[in-house]
Amino acid sequence: MFFQKRIQNGWVIQNTRPDHTKQLEALQRRVFPTLAQNEILTEKHYLKHLEIFPQGQFVVLDDERVIGMATTMRHHFSTQPHSFLEISGNLWMTTHDPNGDWLYGLDVGVDPDYRRQGLAREIYSARQEVARQLGLKGQITVGMMNGFGAVSGEMTPEEYFEKLQSGKITDPTVSVQQRLGFEIVALMKNYLNDPTCGNCGVLMTLSATHEI
Ligand SMILES: CC(C)(COP(=O)(O)OP(=O)(O)OC[C@H]1O[C@@H](n2cnc3c(N)ncnc32)[C@H](O)[C@@H]1OP(=O)(O)O)[C@@H](O)C(=O)NCCC(=O)NCCS
Repeated sequence: MFFQKRIQNGWVIQNTRPDHTKQLEALQRRVFPTLAQNEILTEKHYLKHLEIFPQGQFVVLDDERVIGMATTMRHHFSTQPHSFLEISGNLWMTTHDPNGDWLYGLDVGVDPDYRRQGLAREIYSARQEVARQLGLKGQITVGMMNGFGAVSGEMTPEEYFEKLQSGKITDPTVSVQQRLGFEIVALMKNYLNDPTCGNCGVLMTLSATHEI
């Protein structure tokens, strides 16, 4: 089933098509400017994802311009520590399990020119709709702890994580996911290679029954 929905300002959120993949690679570089090069999704990776699990790949379009993106696969839930490269099959999504009972979000990104206008909310909501269509338990994500890098000289990842969990601080990425209903499960150190988040992610889940 092909997902497509018209949202505010005439923008459209839909499943990715092969002709979007060039723009998606460019958007990756804009959205994740400090991420290690070997963790950036390229056109070739996107084309592979479309072969493996087309229903789980999303773009947001302003006419022909790609302004938002999300990459997901099916997987089982586990609190076992893992890295982004391990869980994504070195970005090729060969780890997608057609019988996996959760939708695992490998990334979400909104063009910096279009932020704070509800696009992430629409993207997570589209993912929620697809998770329900597939009869899945919900969504898993490992949010980048993107506020940590700036204060990493003042506190440990564990201390930052504890403050985030108890609501004492907000984070530019994890707080967005919390706001949309995700619940924090565990700190994932060395999840990926990016100084902005001190290489740390936060494992979170969202039940399929939750209304975004
Ligand atoms: C995180 C990101 C996807 C959010 O996209 P966005 O379209 O600006 O988010 P939205 O406008 O849909 O906001 C969703 C909710 O989070 C809140 N929010 C958005 N940015 C926020 C921030 N920096 N700090 C705190 N809350 C924030 C909004 O107020 C909104 O809540 P509300 O609807 O109840 O008011 C975007 O900032 C981004 O692409 N960041 C870089 C890439 C990244 O970190 N991706 C995630 C990797 S796991």
